[in-house]
Amino acid sequence: MGKIVIAIDGQSGCGKSSTAKAVAKRLGYTYLDSGAMYRAVALYHLQNPFSLESDEEVKEALRHVNISFHQNPSTQIQETYLNGQNVEEAIRTMRVSKQVSAVAAVKQIREAMVAQQRKLGNDKGVVMDGRDIGSVVFPKAELKVYMTADLETRAKRRAEELSAAGAVIPLQEIKQNLAERDRLDSSRAESPLKKMPDAVEIDTSNLRFEDQVDLVVRLAKDKIGKVESYASNN
Ligand code: DC
Repeated sequence: MGKIVIAIDGQSGCGKSSTAKAVAKRLGYTYLDSGAMYRAVALYHLQNPFSLESDEEVKEALRHVNISFHQNPSTQIQETYLNGQNVEEAIRTMRVSKQVSAVAAVKQIREAMVAQQRKLGNDKGVVMDGRDIGSVVFPKAELKVYMTADLETRAKRRAEELSAAGAVIPLQEIKQNLAERDRLDSSRAESPLKKMPDAVEIDTSNLRFEDQVDLVVRLAKDKIGKVESYASNN
């Protein structure tokens, strides 16, 4: 089967990651969570404070940040490692969520993450989710999806995820964090979140999870078919 790159961008908490994961599984593709990388840098920053304004300090910190993904053999889920330590849970806390947009706005940090993301997606057959995947990381991605959902729905979904992980956070606090991240992620100077003209917009507010996965899989199969017929005609 021909392989393509699928870029899924959108606001915080609109279901990008769970959709991307399920789509990757259905297609036998690799799933890559670019947000996890920014979260890992934010965690490092909380543990080893450095000035985000100082190019020198950021450069030095990045020399000590090594992010990798490894599959958990019992769950088959890709987990995030920072300097050899599994940080999959630690990067999902509210403490990291409150810090991550500031870290992700730093040009030097973005350049380092984008370089690694491009390497990871080099062989195609990848579903990557984030904010700038279709615009900056893979501007030639065969399929670009821009996902949205209203704030109330996103906050409720995030609250359920956090409570499943044992953290009971007031809905209002989650809403505020999502709204603040939307604002920062869309207004920053470096690669702000925006819908690309060639992206398919999917509003998931009133969609069942299985239906949004089906929709993206259908769009992907259509693109894969086109890639295959192009290859056989050339
Ligand atoms: O997808 P997420 O909510 O886990 O992402 C965490 C933060 O990282 C998000 O607030 C913005 C930032 N991010 C980014 O700037 N670019 C990406 N490609 C992915 C995430």
